[in-house]
Amino acid sequence: MAANIFFAVLPLLLPYACAQIDQNAAPCPIAFENTSSIGPDGPWWYIPLQVDFPDQRVKMLPTQSTMSIVINASACSTQGSSCPPPAEDLWMPFSEAWTSSNGPDQVGMEVGGVAWGIVMSTLLGLEGSGQYFTDRMTIWRGGDSSQLNYLDHQAMVVSNNYSVSYPGGASYTLDTGFFSLNGASNHASWTTANGSTATSNHTLPLAYENGFMPSKSYGMHIGSVHPNVTASLYLGGYDASRVLSQPVVANGTVFTLVDVGLNVTSGASAFTNLGSGHVRGLLSSNGSNVASLDVEVGSGVPYMYLPRSTCDAIAEYLPVQYDSDFDLYLWNTDDEAFEHIVTSPHYLKLTFASIDQTLQAINVPFALLNLTLDTPLVSMQTPYFPCRPVDDLGPSAHLGRAFLQAAFLAQNAQTNTMFLAQAPGPEFLEENVKTIDSDATTLAPATNPPSWESTWSATLRGLSSSSSDNSGNGSGSISSQGGSGHKSGGGGLSGGAIAGIVVGAVVALALVALLILWFVRRRKKSWAASQQSEQEEYKNVYAQYGSPGATTAPPQYAPIPGGELATEPVRQIHEADATLSAPAEMDVRQDPTELSAEESHGQAK
Ligand SMILES: *[C@@H]1O[C@H](CO)[C@@H](O)[C@H](O)[C@H]1NC(C)=O
Ligand SMILES: *[C@@H]1O[C@H](CO)[C@@H](O)[C@H](O)[C@H]1NC(C)=O
Ligand SMILES: *[C@@H]1O[C@H](CO)[C@@H](O)[C@H](O)[C@H]1NC(C)=O
Ligand SMILES: *[C@@H]1O[C@H](CO)[C@@H](O)[C@H](O)[C@H]1NC(C)=O
Ligand SMILES: *[C@@H]1O[C@H](CO)[C@@H](O)[C@H](O)[C@H]1NC(C)=O
Ligand SMILES: *[C@@H]1O[C@H](CO)[C@@H](O)[C@H](O)[C@H]1NC(C)=O
Ligand SMILES: *[C@@H]1O[C@H](CO)[C@@H](O)[C@H](O)[C@H]1NC(C)=O
Ligand SMILES: *[C@@H]1O[C@H](CO)[C@@H](O)[C@H](O)[C@H]1NC(C)=O
Ligand SMILES: *[C@@H]1O[C@H](CO)[C@@H](O)[C@H](O)[C@H]1NC(C)=O
Ligand SMILES: *[C@@H]1O[C@H](CO)[C@@H](O)[C@H](O)[C@H]1NC(C)=O
Ligand SMILES: *[C@@H]1O[C@H](CO)[C@@H](O)[C@H](O)[C@H]1NC(C)=O
Repeated sequence: MAANIFFAVLPLLLPYACAQIDQNAAPCPIAFENTSSIGPDGPWWYIPLQVDFPDQRVKMLPTQSTMSIVINASACSTQGSSCPPPAEDLWMPFSEAWTSSNGPDQVGMEVGGVAWGIVMSTLLGLEGSGQYFTDRMTIWRGGDSSQLNYLDHQAMVVSNNYSVSYPGGASYTLDTGFFSLNGASNHASWTTANGSTATSNHTLPLAYENGFMPSKSYGMHIGSVHPNVTASLYLGGYDASRVLSQPVVANGTVFTLVDVGLNVTSGASAFTNLGSGHVRGLLSSNGSNVASLDVEVGSGVPYMYLPRSTCDAIAEYLPVQYDSDFDLYLWNTDDEAFEHIVTSPHYLKLTFASIDQTLQAINVPFALLNLTLDTPLVSMQTPYFPCRPVDDLGPSAHLGRAFLQAAFLAQNAQTNTMFLAQAPGPEFLEENVKTIDSDATTLAPATNPPSWESTWSATLRGLSSSSSDNSGNGSGSISSQGGSGHKSGGGGLSGGAIAGIVVGAVVALALVALLILWFVRRRKKSWAASQQSEQEEYKNVYAQYGSPGATTAPPQYAPIPGGELATEPVRQIHEADATLSAPAEMDVRQDPTELSAEESHGQAK
């Protein structure tokens, strides 16, 4: 036992001894939990990881921020803390391995939430205090406790009492950490308590240099808890079965959103005042329509942070009510349209323009947008629609976990590219792991992928048309779709029900025939016109993004370096400013070599 501890401590003392890049390494699978989830704004699947030695299990959510965060056990035991239950799997910083390898001496001074990046801390409304530190993190490759990858002497932040707060005063103390997927900056430097400077490597660059993965990249689908879609994450690769469409590519980290719309895959529409079931052109900012919007995408924050007028435009068609205490929209669960919308193939459609100017839509079924506020934020579970209005001069728009339940996200730090594609619902192909090469600027989708609709067809049934008019009894679970790939979910229909369906079908057929007649006549007239106008709108977008210097580029969302802070009207970061340290931590696009020891040393004082 003593010898074991000795060998385990050794690498903590000699952090860089075995570093070696291996571009032929297989992608490293990171397993998510698939039976228990976390809140209090989810539910979300999380990654179980080990820190310190002997292993201490911790829970983490993946993030694009540079720092991984571990929660100090004291965060949930101190007075006034309000950790979401169960507050377990927290780090106790007392192990012999940690103390005997100078861990405590390397702990930095107290830093505010900005240690995690200004954008993240602002979006989350992060308050409280943490410290930079270094320790071992152990990855169980693919969740297999016999395949260990040690990330020794890793730079991380320990949260002593970081908390997330809401405008109405509710807040919770973080009891889930974050696993950094950022490969843009190699290391962090900070000032320790005794005044010296400590420097250590970030998670992804360290794993790469240790030869655990073939490139500084990852591919991820965070999946969803309700309905149950298991999450997938590979470092240095991706599972192609999670990629149903040609990925949209971003140069850097900013995607171009060109349209927001609603639609229904099959069956009747339960959208409020939207009998047709579809609408587009909901993308607006500051009260007026915009042709495009710059958005970042990341799994470290929960909501879809969009301009208020865009959230409002979507909400208009939903049985939701804006709640200023949470700055979110709460579902009106008494309205039967709520259940109809979240249990049938109603979806939010976000269209993006890739750097090669092709357009790709990512569809998010409303089944994934029925999320829940839970203790300690509310006393009773409260379903909410995860659109968080960002003010027009505030932080840029950001699509967080709510959106990523339906999207595949990948990033290659070595080519500074990011990829976004349609992810499947509960039914998807066999896993098919592919490597992301260090020079990759494109990713191949699954071969012969199923249609997005078909991956949901066994879970979400189209509404029969009677159930969508508000006079009925809302029994509308009979599918009106006959498409392929549709599994019959009912264990057994009674003879009466079958007879009912047959009669219903005959009547429906007659109605459909009439409708088609009417529709064909009507459509003949309008088709040509609408086709043309749609093409023209997209052409405008192409034009704007084809020429970066063009004066038509959207003015209000152009990234202004350092601009977020200067113009920041949003929530509380006041206290955080004063403790600002390690400036290179703030901006993932910044060149890592700019983080000189003296610079951060000076700033932290
Ligand atoms: C870690 O960071 C140092 C610089 O602080 C660098 O020299 C080293 O190569 C990095 N990589 C590893 C695996 O330690
Ligand atoms: C769910 O988790 C268990 C235990 O970690 C694992 O063995 C299993 O493969 C996972 N299921 C899926 C579908 O990934
Ligand atoms: C989710 O699905 C996975 C695999 O399909 C299964 O192992 C797991 O138990 C399910 N989790 C829940 C909470 O049903
Ligand atoms: C964790 O919390 C304890 C108790 O508040 C504190 O003494 C300690 O410094 C913290 N640990 C680290 C590594 O910051
Ligand atoms: C501070 O602590 C570090 C790490 O233990 C040590 O190397 C250094 O000598 C100390 N500096 C001072 C000024 O005590
Ligand atoms: C967090 O802890 C710091 C001291 O470590 C304390 O000054 C601060 O008031 C605490 N903040 C909250 C929100 O509890
Ligand atoms: C990406 O952006 C960088 C710097 O902004 C630029 O030099 C490069 O040419 C761009 N690449 C593509 C493919 O647009
Ligand atoms: C809405 O969905 C239907 C069914 O998938 C499709 O035929 C139609 O083109 C879609 N309409 C729009 C505006 O996207
Ligand atoms: C909404 O989601 C919760 C879990 O977050 C689930 O328990 C509930 O059944 C869902 N509501 C509907 C109508 O599907
Ligand atoms: C929003 O509208 C107001 C008043 O119309 C204007 O003063 C402000 O500059 C606009 N903001 C943006 C970001 O366009
Ligand atoms: C609606 O359901 C109730 C009982 O659940 C029943 O008494 C009533 O007759 C139904 N109404 C219609 C229009 O089907």
